[in-house]
Amino acid sequence: MAGEYITLENPATYPRFHSNANGVASGKYRSVQRISTKHLILLILLVCSTLIVSYVYWDVMVLTAGALPLSRGTSLAVDDMESSGLGNETLAEKLHREVRVLCWVLTTPKYHKTRAIHILRTWGKRCNKIYFMTSEPDDELPTVVLSKPDSYEVLWGKTKEAFVHIHEQMRHEADWFIKADDDTYLFLENLRYMLYPYSPEIPIYFGFNYKMVGTHQKNESYMSGGSGYVLSREALRIFAEGRNDSSKCRQEDDHAEDVEMGKCLFNLGVKAGDSRDEQLRNRFYPIAPFGALLSGNVGMDFWLYKYAYYNARSCMDCLSEYPVAFHYVDSKQLYVYEYFNYQFQLSGRTQVAERLPKKIREEELVIPESDNPLY
Ligand SMILES: *[C@@H]1O[C@H](CO)[C@@H](O)[C@H](O)[C@H]1NC(C)=O
Ligand SMILES: *[C@@H]1O[C@H](CO)[C@@H](O)[C@H](O)[C@H]1NC(C)=O
Ligand SMILES: *[C@@H]1O[C@H](CO)[C@@H](O)[C@H](O)[C@H]1NC(C)=O
Repeated sequence: MAGEYITLENPATYPRFHSNANGVASGKYRSVQRISTKHLILLILLVCSTLIVSYVYWDVMVLTAGALPLSRGTSLAVDDMESSGLGNETLAEKLHREVRVLCWVLTTPKYHKTRAIHILRTWGKRCNKIYFMTSEPDDELPTVVLSKPDSYEVLWGKTKEAFVHIHEQMRHEADWFIKADDDTYLFLENLRYMLYPYSPEIPIYFGFNYKMVGTHQKNESYMSGGSGYVLSREALRIFAEGRNDSSKCRQEDDHAEDVEMGKCLFNLGVKAGDSRDEQLRNRFYPIAPFGALLSGNVGMDFWLYKYAYYNARSCMDCLSEYPVAFHYVDSKQLYVYEYFNYQFQLSGRTQVAERLPKKIREEELVIPESDNPLY
């Protein structure tokens, strides 16, 4: 029986197959010789119609093949209205050009080879620019070496230094500036799609909105540091120029980086935007996907639901179709996310037609207040 497998790769061991094939061929040859005129006309008609059908099939295949690249490399398909203005670009390429995002990742030399490099090889390559904020240079990484030490206690200090450096040296490189951790996964296409309606000249930032603890007012929120937050160019300028005001921003380097950033930006008049999608589902997740999908297991007092500024339970055990960020994604998982989002095809899935959202003028901007009854 084992011989059967070997013979598949070596047709010479299939003598019966060859003799059968020859037999069929010679049989056909004999029947053609005896063919009548009536049969000959029928045969010609058959050949002609086969040729016509083949040509039509080929033509259709060539025409549709041209449409395929539109949806490749992106989950965003474009409807006819939009594609007319896109030329040879995909929607993702248009957004890459028009909504320029500079990513910066807070890391330390200890994680250069185990985390940072893997971010650069996965989602990081889709940022318009990416920099790793760390304390030592690395040949394999685009690093910015900060002066603050590598310690959890000075995360707020490092964050200030990083944003100020970006404002002073790199503010012309992008329209939006996102801070991520070295265990964050970002979908840049969805981030740009979310930011598209807003001008980078509006003083605003986006992320996963938490309720401000302690000094909480119903209209105050701050953004989770783990799932990252994105500042407009104007918000970046206001932060860099206003940070020295001790009545508005914490001057010391300690305390939670995300809470201090939230307070500082709030006091400086930068708006905490609403990053939810049209169905009011979160797009930034300060947890890994399974945590949001299986939240029923941890009950209604799950910290995420308690501290979410917008009622995270509006989408319980489900996720936005356009997520932007997840937190607590380890390096191996980065490649799994890449595969399932950028190579994976599901046979027979139909593409959803899409349109870019309308642009929002600053005076039209409405940011809903917290709707989370829990506290
Ligand atoms: C689209 O066409 C323009 C000019 O015709 C060219 O410069 C550009 O590289 C093309 N873009 C893509 C993605 O092929
Ligand atoms: C937030 O609410 C407080 C109290 O209701 C109000 O005094 C303050 O002006 C509000 N701030 C903003 C930015 O809306
Ligand atoms: C803020 O303070 C730092 C350190 O004292 C100083 O170098 C910088 O110029 C100040 N920036 C602004 C905008 O006031």
